[in-house]
Amino acid sequence: MPLAVIAEAVGTPAYVYSTVSMVGQARRLKAALEPLGDSLIAFAVKANPNAAVLATLAAEGLGADVVSGGEYERARRAGIPADRILFSGVGKTEAEMRLAIEGGLFQLNLESVQEAEMLSGVAQSMGRSVDAAFRINPDVAAGSHAKISTGAAHNKFGLPIVDAPAAYERAGALPGLNLRGVAVHIGSQLTSLAPLESAFERIGGLIAELRAAGHALETADLGGGLGIAYDPSEPLPPGIGEYGAMVRRVAGGWGTRLIFEPGRLIVGAAGILLTRVIRVKPGPACPFVVVDAGMNDLMRPTLYDAWHGIDAVAPRGGRMIADVVGPLCETGDSFAFSRSIDRVRAGDLMAIRTCGAYAATMANFYNSRTLAPEVLVDGSQWAVVRERQSIDALIREERKAPWLRGG
Ligand code: LLP
Repeated sequence: MPLAVIAEAVGTPAYVYSTVSMVGQARRLKAALEPLGDSLIAFAVKANPNAAVLATLAAEGLGADVVSGGEYERARRAGIPADRILFSGVGKTEAEMRLAIEGGLFQLNLESVQEAEMLSGVAQSMGRSVDAAFRINPDVAAGSHAKISTGAAHNKFGLPIVDAPAAYERAGALPGLNLRGVAVHIGSQLTSLAPLESAFERIGGLIAELRAAGHALETADLGGGLGIAYDPSEPLPPGIGEYGAMVRRVAGGWGTRLIFEPGRLIVGAAGILLTRVIRVKPGPACPFVVVDAGMNDLMRPTLYDAWHGIDAVAPRGGRMIADVVGPLCETGDSFAFSRSIDRVRAGDLMAIRTCGAYAATMANFYNSRTLAPEVLVDGSQWAVVRERQSIDALIREERKAPWLRGG
């Protein structure tokens, strides 16, 4: 499907997603985990919550890992069955717990004894019982960017592993709760299996310890986090097959149903941000290629110093060294510095690569730029799966305060 056709029809900037890429990743992961029996792959909705993306993955049999009432609603409306929805998150409210219990869910992952007490209260008030697990903080350094590492003791996530036995003792006795599992997620964009493996080993030890103390453990949620290739000059991250083999080796004998929460691995490589060069402006060391996508559309480079490939859609031949920047009034609104890119001119289309995960979903309206549309391609078909936001839609929800309305 030529990107130029899509750009002509929907304009730029626009996100474009490939069905074959995400379905392929889902199938490769299913195949690698198949020998583990009846595991549940719950797609981390936060990575890409678009309804068409969720529906594509639902058709592949994936469940959903949600972290808010909004994500829960999206997963349900996209057709993901309630019994494949996992509710994670650091600050679940009573209202969110009620929503999920009412609509049904696979399991809720708790992060503290205080949260277990709240859930017990909510479930009891509804005359229901809810399946739950504790997310354990194993105190392992994930080795990823500091802003996306979650498994060290000083991170806000999960229950410290040393406190787990007492927490299971206390929460296991709460009415309305069926505390039946453990969960762990140490961070995202992990490019080595070693930290995952040591976290899983600690979880295996904890499962044995808890069972010895009389707790029945039926589920072990191993989270997500496996990294993908962004920069071709960096070593390739471990493949799905290696990951599956490691999980089988470490967790294959636990006798628990295994759950996985991959996000980036499934959709990261499936998306691009399609953008047009507004102009090429001379710079002191190299030119600035000013494109019509900005940090409001794609925050990852600004927030995490993330590297994304940037290529001309129809290369003219030749290369140039350039800073690729957006149009926003922020120095941080830059996608690449002194990068060797295809030689481009004003009006050329470019693709910012590996934008299927944590891209459109983290967009915002800074500089009063409206949210970019999203397009899903499936072979020779394509469809707009999110309209470009209008400036009216952006402003409509704002009100002048009553005292400003006069005159
Ligand atoms: N499970 C839990 C509890 C999580 O917090 C996350 C991601 C995942 C699963 C999925 O992780 P994945 O398989 O996608 O690595 N915005 C950042 C990434 C933040 C990840 C947050 N949690 C980025 O753009 O790199």
